Amino acid sequence: MKLALIGATGRTGTYVLAAALERGHDVTALVRDPGKLDPRARAAVRVVVGDATDPGALTDLLAGADAVVSALGPTGREGDLHTRTAGALIAIMTRTGPRRFVGVSGAGIDVPGDRKTVTNKAISALIQLLGGGVVKDKPAEYRAWAASRLDWTLVRPPRLVDGPASTRTLEHDAHRSTRSTKITRADLGAFLVDVVEQGLYPRQAPFVATPKA
Ligand SMILES: NC(=O)c1ccc[n+]([C@@H]2O[C@H](COP(=O)([O-])OP(=O)(O)OC[C@H]3O[C@@H](n4cnc5c(N)ncnc54)[C@H](OP(=O)(O)O)[C@@H]3O)[C@@H](O)[C@H]2O)c1
Repeated sequence: MKLALIGATGRTGTYVLAAALERGHDVTALVRDPGKLDPRARAAVRVVVGDATDPGALTDLLAGADAVVSALGPTGREGDLHTRTAGALIAIMTRTGPRRFVGVSGAGIDVPGDRKTVTNKAISALIQLLGGGVVKDKPAEYRAWAASRLDWTLVRPPRLVDGPASTRTLEHDAHRSTRSTKITRADLGAFLVDVVEQGLYPRQAPFVATPKA
């Protein structure tokens, strides 16, 4: 597939990029600083330099793409980064395509049809109550994609940790909380590529976690 990747220099995005290249996809990456890309990866991708909220850079990124994959995350106090990026992407994708978007949300957001455990419901409510702009940005981002006519998936991981990729099948479900409360960034990166390759969870926000040992 021709994949347009946002957040390729991040701790999850690095794994998305590695998995996409390993599986033979043709990747264009939007980065603010190409020097942050691994030199071998940099040689294997088309690089667009720019900001995720800039419609001009996004138009360049999306040209000819089959799908957009995002592991974007705010590195400063950009409390509206996800909604601004979603707004710009939705406008371009609705007009010229592609129709498919796979991004990262968080297990703390609630969506219609959820069957969270009582504990997870309480944790989500606390996160939403006490969290700052960045936390509130995720539900707003969800609402923006849900209101679009596009084919989106917003993956909801619990706590991200560093560590190796799991050798076991990941836990994932559209609405039921995972038993495990963490996921490695390696597993999340590979899962995002699985979702886009296999067309999993269209217009849904699946939970995903590394299974407990
Ligand atoms: N931490 C957790 O436990 C947790 C739990 C659930 C969900 N999440 C979500 O998981 C996602 C990935 O997290 P992560 O830790 O892998 O993120 P990360 O390492 O902080 O990477 C963020 C990526 O976004 C890029 N970025 C930030 N602002 C940008 C902008 N304005 N324009 C273009 N690129 C921009 C960064 O580029 P630069 O390299 O140029 O800075 C970097 O590539 C985030 O959305 C996060 O909210 C995290």
